[in-house]
Amino acid sequence: MLEVIILAAGQGSRMQSRLPKVLHLLSGRPLIHYTLDAARAAGANQIHVVVGCGADAVEAAVQAPDVQCHLQAQQKGTGHAVQQAIGACHPDSTLLVLFGDVPLVSDRTLQTVVAAAEGGIAMLSAVVEDPSGYGRVVRDGQGEFSAVVEHKDASMVQHQLREINTGVLASRASSLADWLSRIQNNNAQSEYYLPDVLALAKADGIAVSVVVSDSALDTLGVNTPQQLEYLERQHQQVLAERLMAAGVFVADRARLDIRGSLGCGRDVSIDINVVFEGQVVLGDEVTIGAHCVIRNATIEAGVQVRPFTHIDGATIKAGAEIGPYARLRPGTEIGEQAKVGNFVEIKNVSLGTGAKANHLTYLGDATVGAWSNVGAGTITCNYDGANKYRTELGEGVFIGSNSTLVAPLSVASGGFVAAGSTITDDVASDQLAVARGRQSNVDGWQRPAKTKDKA
Ligand code: UD1
Ligand code: CA
Repeated sequence: MLEVIILAAGQGSRMQSRLPKVLHLLSGRPLIHYTLDAARAAGANQIHVVVGCGADAVEAAVQAPDVQCHLQAQQKGTGHAVQQAIGACHPDSTLLVLFGDVPLVSDRTLQTVVAAAEGGIAMLSAVVEDPSGYGRVVRDGQGEFSAVVEHKDASMVQHQLREINTGVLASRASSLADWLSRIQNNNAQSEYYLPDVLALAKADGIAVSVVVSDSALDTLGVNTPQQLEYLERQHQQVLAERLMAAGVFVADRARLDIRGSLGCGRDVSIDINVVFEGQVVLGDEVTIGAHCVIRNATIEAGVQVRPFTHIDGATIKAGAEIGPYARLRPGTEIGEQAKVGNFVEIKNVSLGTGAKANHLTYLGDATVGAWSNVGAGTITCNYDGANKYRTELGEGVFIGSNSTLVAPLSVASGGFVAAGSTITDDVASDQLAVARGRQSNVDGWQRPAKTKDKA
């Protein structure tokens, strides 16, 4: 049985944030969710999360049938943190310890560490360019493991060592509990250091296996906003790389952000500076123009989304054209071949097949039938300050430019509204509705003449 303990009690003071560190977002998800995913992918039967700072919020974020939380009321170090959970583990379990602030450790690496712990104890190290801040792996003359020395306790010579402790460690639960009961806090930070168990194991004549990571992402921890940004950029490149490997045409891997899940069909192309959030699905041959933000949307085959468009909570059927500068809000369904042009805002609307709203329009709480045309500057007045009402337009309806449609209202199929009208009464299918002051032309009109200046 494999049990995983995830340490997540620290405040993360170097983040200088009110939010507990493990709840900061990486690609739109809390850091700790990545560690949970890695634990599960490595085969965890039971997961223990040690919580402390912001315990309630962290507990709520990790809640699941295979997760148990343990409170570390005072943060006395990583060794002390593991002690808060180890009593709940089965003595014969293999125990894997992970840090909630090291999100991108791969499950393949974790499986290697678990296998290496067989009959002893194993840790994951990495050789890095800049080891400052990390615990260093000290080896003896034969290259065998001696100890992990924390940065703050290390000598000048040890500061030069570039092999660092990633924090990942595995061992039999009962053995780890024994070593933990013997660690001391006589060090620079007066903390109970988890890696001290490794030197104790060695002193007991137990084999300490050091697995050296072959992936830079395994080791990257988040302690500062700079490190979070760095990890975000690294991770986004991995996501962009995956898309391209699946045949998606990405204009610039450094100018794409996926904060959630993105599914793509064949021959999808994505221009620069596009942000995807939540669950987004793009069908075959969809093109997304530059500078779009697209959230929780299903966009079917052949749809063209032009630059600077915002989409949130919408379904767009095959062949539709959206934007530039369009805004689709939740509850929007755009029909096949429909067109939504610049500066058009649409909310909770079903726009039928081939229907058009091409310029400067607000459609809210409405149904627009197939092949209807909504002219420039049309507004649905859907709200009276207290309640919202629907506007129903049938098929082939024509709404002239600069009309206001005061809901509740219906215009039957084929109905026609003259430009500049304020429509308050229903319009039947064979009717033209005109609601505006009539034009009168004055013959022989003299323009006002300028009065002479006094000076
Ligand atoms: C730790 C390791 C260091 C390693 C580095 C890798 C120790 C003593 N040091 O240092 O060898 O190179 O990680 O990233 O283990 N936590 C608790 N309770 C506590 C203290 C910490 O739950 O009392 C949690 C933190 O929330 C965090 C993790 O343990 O998720 C690591 O703690 P942190 O203070 O960031 O340790 P580092 O200084 O990074
Ligand atoms: Ca850390």
